[in-house]
Amino acid sequence: MSFRFPGIIGDSPRMREVLNLLELVAPADATVLLLGETGTGKELAARAIHLNSPRHQGPFVAVNCAALPETLLESELFGHERGAFTGATARKEGRFVLAHRGTLFLDEIGELSPAIQAKILRVLQTMEFEPLGGTRTVKVDVRVIAATNRDLEAMVREGSFREDLYYRLNVFPITLPALQDRLDDLPRLAEYFLNHFREKYQRPVQSLSPEVMQAFQNYPWPGNIRELENVIERGVIVCQSEALTLKDLPLALQGYFFEASGEGEEEPSLPELERQLIIKTLEKLSRNRQQAAEVLGISLDELNLKIRAYGLDR
Ligand SMILES: Nc1ncnc2c1ncn2[C@@H]1O[C@H](COP(=O)(O)OP(=O)(O)OP(=O)(O)O)[C@@H](O)[C@H]1O
Ligand SMILES: [Mg+2]
Repeated sequence: MSFRFPGIIGDSPRMREVLNLLELVAPADATVLLLGETGTGKELAARAIHLNSPRHQGPFVAVNCAALPETLLESELFGHERGAFTGATARKEGRFVLAHRGTLFLDEIGELSPAIQAKILRVLQTMEFEPLGGTRTVKVDVRVIAATNRDLEAMVREGSFREDLYYRLNVFPITLPALQDRLDDLPRLAEYFLNHFREKYQRPVQSLSPEVMQAFQNYPWPGNIRELENVIERGVIVCQSEALTLKDLPLALQGYFFEASGEGEEEPSLPELERQLIIKTLEKLSRNRQQAAEVLGISLDELNLKIRAYGLDR
């Protein structure tokens, strides 16, 4: 069976490399460490590995290690016996047990406390652990996929992440590229999300205007694919016509259109230049209108009028 995951868009050299690695590791039952900035698709990749593995009929269980305080996370992962602590009125199975014969996705692994790091190391070595408040040993058959947006190697050097656990997890690392490093994929990703949200919300929008594509190509995308997805979702909702235009984008993005128009292209009109300058100035000053008016050399009233006239107050 060849690797299949229709939800992953990516044809750029960096993504092809990633897809290739996912395809190789999926059937191998090895521990996988997914690295990459926020919103680059680590969870999507983890699900793809599971679905293309021999365990695909078993459960896929995800745990966000950053979401819970230490003691709760510990009982979430390993379970507890009845009476293990105040409020433990019944025995509870941990996620390691729920993921038996399937895949456990440990997300945000860089946030683990030292005690839980030690416990997870032991499970990875022996596939055994004791639920909280008991002496019972539980044995499981679980494939672990871990993910983080932190620099684990640096954390090991600083002493905040166990070196032995790092090596256990780092059997097969895969780094999801930032959106900025795979701009070739941006048009297809944008189109994919446009179609998705147009159908979801039953909206008239059919395409992205060239200015929008230009702004997309220039914007640094700190939130990566998730940010692109959110921007398009919002755009599809506010857009009243068949093409998504700059006005349908958040202000922060609108400012990135102007930088694109290089030589040889049509010069923007004076009002367009003014509009762009106002956007940029407001962005730079965290929308402080008083300061922006000063920088632009006009009164606050004048600025407010222009903001309204250009529709920037929406
Ligand atoms: N290659 C891709 N093709 C299509 N959609 C993608 C792709 N990569 C990511 N996405 C979408 O982007 C969003 C963010 O992806 P995901 O949650 O997997 O990122 P993440 O790396 O786990 O982020 P975080 O570190 O913030 O948890 C999801 O809605 C996901 O479906
Ligand atoms: Mg995630």
